[in-house]
Amino acid sequence: MQGSFITLEGIEGAGKSTCMAEVLKLLKENGFDVLQTREPGGTPLGEDLRQLLLGHKHTGMHEDTELLLMFAARAEHLQQKILPALCVGQWVLCDRFTDASYAYQGGGRGMDMRRIATLEAWVQGDIRPQLTLLMDLPVEQGLARAGKRSSPDRFESEALAFFQRVRQAYLNIAEQEPERVKIIDASRPLTEVQAQVRAVILAFLEQRRHD
Ligand code: TMP
Repeated sequence: MQGSFITLEGIEGAGKSTCMAEVLKLLKENGFDVLQTREPGGTPLGEDLRQLLLGHKHTGMHEDTELLLMFAARAEHLQQKILPALCVGQWVLCDRFTDASYAYQGGGRGMDMRRIATLEAWVQGDIRPQLTLLMDLPVEQGLARAGKRSSPDRFESEALAFFQRVRQAYLNIAEQEPERVKIIDASRPLTEVQAQVRAVILAFLEQRRHD
């Protein structure tokens, strides 16, 4: 079986790390060699860009700059890490990818989705994740959870309405692409969330066996 490209998405406090651990465990139990990575980041250059994007040094960064830096990090990540891994049959499990650009820059910042689509086509060609788990929960609940962690980064400092637009943009993508994007109800207790994640992964593996 060839490697698959799986991504995890969701607003802050949705529990992506818990989901990541569950998916990783399942894939390893099924004998797959998995590369775990994240965006923005995943490469030395990408991690430097992440610091610029999430830190408070450039608080007033223009939204175009923000979008282009996200895609610069993505180009590096794809070419240096994701594609080479997929080429040798590894599975790639990535914490956020281009859906986050549609949700945060498109939904949150209100940027024209067509500009994002142009960059997506340029940077990725026809590379898309085969499966995306969208950890969904009410914004208030997510932000309350995220607030208990370390001091807020540049995105976490945005207002409630920003995250409501981000959540809605994610839900719109899930509605448009139900085959790829599976919604996990992240508002449920941990064991229930893990069970939902397991069900989605096992169904995906089953489908892959028949492809
Ligand atoms: P996180 O991965 O630790 O949750 O933080 C990454 C932040 O960057 C998060 O607030 C979402 C944001 N982001 C974008 O705005 N656009 C993107 O394309 C990506 C990958 C992340």
